[in-house]
Amino acid sequence: MTQQTHNDNGFEILEIKNDSASAKIALQGAHVFEYTRTDEAPLLWVSPESFYRPGKAIRGGIPVCWPWFGKNAEYPDWPQHGFARTSLWEFVSVEEPDAGTTVVILKLPEPESGRAFFPYRYGLTLTVTVSDSLSVALTTKNIGDKPFVITEALHTYFSVGSIDAVTVHGLESVTYADNLESFKHKSGDAPIVIDREVDRVYLDTEHACSIDDVALNRKIVVEKSGSRSTVVWNPWIDKAAGMADFSDDGYKTMVCIETANALEDFVTVPPGESHTMTQSIQ
Ligand code: BG6
Repeated sequence: MTQQTHNDNGFEILEIKNDSASAKIALQGAHVFEYTRTDEAPLLWVSPESFYRPGKAIRGGIPVCWPWFGKNAEYPDWPQHGFARTSLWEFVSVEEPDAGTTVVILKLPEPESGRAFFPYRYGLTLTVTVSDSLSVALTTKNIGDKPFVITEALHTYFSVGSIDAVTVHGLESVTYADNLESFKHKSGDAPIVIDREVDRVYLDTEHACSIDDVALNRKIVVEKSGSRSTVVWNPWIDKAAGMADFSDDGYKTMVCIETANALEDFVTVPPGESHTMTQSIQ
């Protein structure tokens, strides 16, 4: 069953429930902010202090960062992570191919006027498949006559039992750009342990990752395609305290593993062609 409704804050949302799982998607940002397999703990983290406000991304779930990730390379004062996550998307379709699977498609309408941030013609859709796994596919189509360049991310906040009992596997020996040291390139050979602020773009990696969560006794596997970067982020104590919409102790129960094309892993989309980045979580 899928119904279009509003949450307590007046946010327009789609609520999905089938035999495998339930999910919620806000039309602002095509933002999946809840995914829970039947009889299991939620997989996505959302800050209890998140604003649900027009023009402000929900703090948690899966913000869609597009058409740039992080600061805009040319105009650093433009909105961080692009405009898709704060724009109102349109509902396109829902299908239920079986009792345990729901497929929802949303699209970002092109602006009627003013293309200050991105002067190109595009079609942008997000296909969300809710079943016993959660799959999210972001497709960028160039419907204009000039090539364009994008960076992007499915900025997924995962819920974990306790960050001190979490290890992230799959990025050992991958070079990363450390955002805490002006994107200095580094690498390490061990699974990632999060015991301080971490803000890294792992480069040129198409690998799947997994989150070993001892406290919740579960392993989350994140597979991807069309993505050559993986971002790992946890704001830790001071940054969490500095964000009005981030609960002060929230850093203990979340980690972001983001399927991305970021920094030097940008994507060029020629006229008439499209690019799809997919993330599948189980
Ligand atoms: C991460 C970035 O992807 O997103 C961090 O690497 C950033 O640098 C974080 O702080 C959160 O960004 P925002 O704009 O949602 O506060």
